[in-house]
Amino acid sequence: MEPSLLPIDILDAQQGFPEALAACKDLDGLMRLKGVYIGREGSHSARLMELLKAASKERKRELGGAINVLKNAWEEALKARQSELEAARRQLATFGNTWDPDLPPPIPARGAMHPLNQLIDRLVDVFRPLGYHVEEGPEIETEAHNFDGLNIPADHPARGSADTFYFEKYPELLLRTHTSPVQVRTLLRLAPHIQEKGGIRFLAPGRVYRKDEIDPTHSPMFHQVEGMLVGHDIGMHHLKGTLAYAMKALFGPAAEVRFRPSYFPFVEPGCEVDVRCPLCGGSGCRVCKQSGWVELLGAGLVHPNVLAYAGIDSNIWSGFAFGMGVERIAMMVSQTPDLRLFFENDQRFLKTMGGLD
Ligand code: DAH
Repeated sequence: MEPSLLPIDILDAQQGFPEALAACKDLDGLMRLKGVYIGREGSHSARLMELLKAASKERKRELGGAINVLKNAWEEALKARQSELEAARRQLATFGNTWDPDLPPPIPARGAMHPLNQLIDRLVDVFRPLGYHVEEGPEIETEAHNFDGLNIPADHPARGSADTFYFEKYPELLLRTHTSPVQVRTLLRLAPHIQEKGGIRFLAPGRVYRKDEIDPTHSPMFHQVEGMLVGHDIGMHHLKGTLAYAMKALFGPAAEVRFRPSYFPFVEPGCEVDVRCPLCGGSGCRVCKQSGWVELLGAGLVHPNVLAYAGIDSNIWSGFAFGMGVERIAMMVSQTPDLRLFFENDQRFLKTMGGLD
């Protein structure tokens, strides 16, 4: 480009352009500079166009080329600076104008243990000092473990496809309906060592499945914690003492426990265990349906047939077992009226459960 083609003030403007551009610290300033250099009227570009119009035919080509180079350079540089300033503005909107590059970055909310798992851990912690370890079993179970080994007769209604999820292609398999099959599995596995160990005791937390319609107190998937102890001369007094201790550890030293006779095929005798309503203290409220008591567990002394199925001699060994619904206890201790809240993962709810920081 021949410098002499362009007037001196344009050459000055061209020379000052990089500095003027760098001096634009915000979008307003940039817009003003844009107006000065490439605006429609009164800008350096506009003046160059006028010069071009007025130029003689011979000069037009050369002058036009020079003007184009200049205008394109200005346009591109202005555009690049605009993107930079826009990015800076977005950053400001995100971090606020107190953003200080020397400070550590904002820490996003951290996830934490789900309230149901927190409660399961608490239960495990209550029983661990009593010598209970944790056992697990599969959620896809066999009929043998879920029913047969537990002395549940072939014609028991719970075995029906109205209550239990079966697999079309594998008729002997099902989604376990309770954690009690872990009793069968653990007894079978530990039976050969029972003598040297002097007995068996464990807790088995996990998911269970039933064909229930979803409502505030039912879900087709929920959690149970199973417990079992096998030893010598185990009686109801051992069961009562253990569960009274556990409920006091869970609900506080004032917790009161009540045992009612009940029936489960895998225990004899069987019972249901209530605690004095932790919400109203027994005076009657919505949670305890005005009765002052809430049912927490099924329990009993292990049926001889259950021991026999695992090859354990019930003349030598006896035991107790219990099973509790985790959601039910969680609803009570947290005064949550709707079980579905535990499965919806709404952080506003989980936060109130101490489930998030
Ligand atoms: N499996 C029973 C249920 O799901 C609960 C239960 C009752 C477990 C008595 C036990 C027991 O271990 O002894 O309803």
